[in-house]
Amino acid sequence: MLKIKNLHASVEDKAILKGINLEVNPGEVHAIMGPNGSGKSTLASVIAGKEEYEVTNGDILFEDKNIEELAAEERAHKGIFLSFQYPVEIPGVSVTNFMKTAINETRKAKGLEEMPANEMLKLIREKSELLEIDRKFLSRSLNEGFSGGEKKRNEIFQMAMLEPKLAILDETDSGLDIDALRIVANGVNKLKSKDNAVIVITHYQRLLDYIVPDFVHVLHNGRIVKSGTKELAHELEEKGYDWIKQELV
Ligand SMILES: Nc1ncnc2c1ncn2[C@@H]1O[C@H](COP(=O)(O)OP(=O)(O)O)[C@@H](O)[C@H]1O
Ligand SMILES: [Mg+2]
Repeated sequence: MLKIKNLHASVEDKAILKGINLEVNPGEVHAIMGPNGSGKSTLASVIAGKEEYEVTNGDILFEDKNIEELAAEERAHKGIFLSFQYPVEIPGVSVTNFMKTAINETRKAKGLEEMPANEMLKLIREKSELLEIDRKFLSRSLNEGFSGGEKKRNEIFQMAMLEPKLAILDETDSGLDIDALRIVANGVNKLKSKDNAVIVITHYQRLLDYIVPDFVHVLHNGRIVKSGTKELAHELEEKGYDWIKQELV
């Protein structure tokens, strides 16, 4: 699904990613860990196509097509979802209405008509039940006064509604209480299927107690310096990132 080959990327002429290789197949959950500043969010942004980041070398293939020339929006329409770390508040626009617009925009980009209202309602009902999101929440203004947990609930709901092929969740962890962690993890676990894939980015191992990844990669100084299975996350928790740094010396 996603193949990243020798990816180098920079921001404001500063090289951040220095040769990333990563392959993600349908049905897989990958965790990307690493110390602060190692380039985790940059990698997420580059995959999603954020403009500030410049790919200076290498390839990103999504479903065997090079996506480098595609704008972020076009990548989203192809099924790449990036959770936003700092969601905007839109007073007066409800969670539901925001979602309706997002879905219809995606459909429009694919040359489809707007989703009929009854179908939309059914989809909203189905997904909110799956994620145990109550009605009241759906009618609230987008992100207005949302707690950390509610922001996460909103993001996961968006992910559920859009049904991306590849979801990238960039979790800062700071301010993620246990409640929020569980919301993210439950969502990911429930939405996981053999056809979609998830990349979870996290600084701490904690989140991976709830989401069990198939693969764990450690990013350090713009490179993946170690890959393994979920045990690697535990090892990191135990030994800390210094262990990786020492091994590299
Ligand atoms: N928009 C940006 N402008 C300038 N520097 C950036 C920007 N985004 C990231 N960086 C720099 O890139 C490096 C990696 O950052 P980041 O990808 O956010 O790491 P992580 O998510 O692993 O903490 C840091 O040195 C950071 O300062
Ligand atoms: Mg980050």
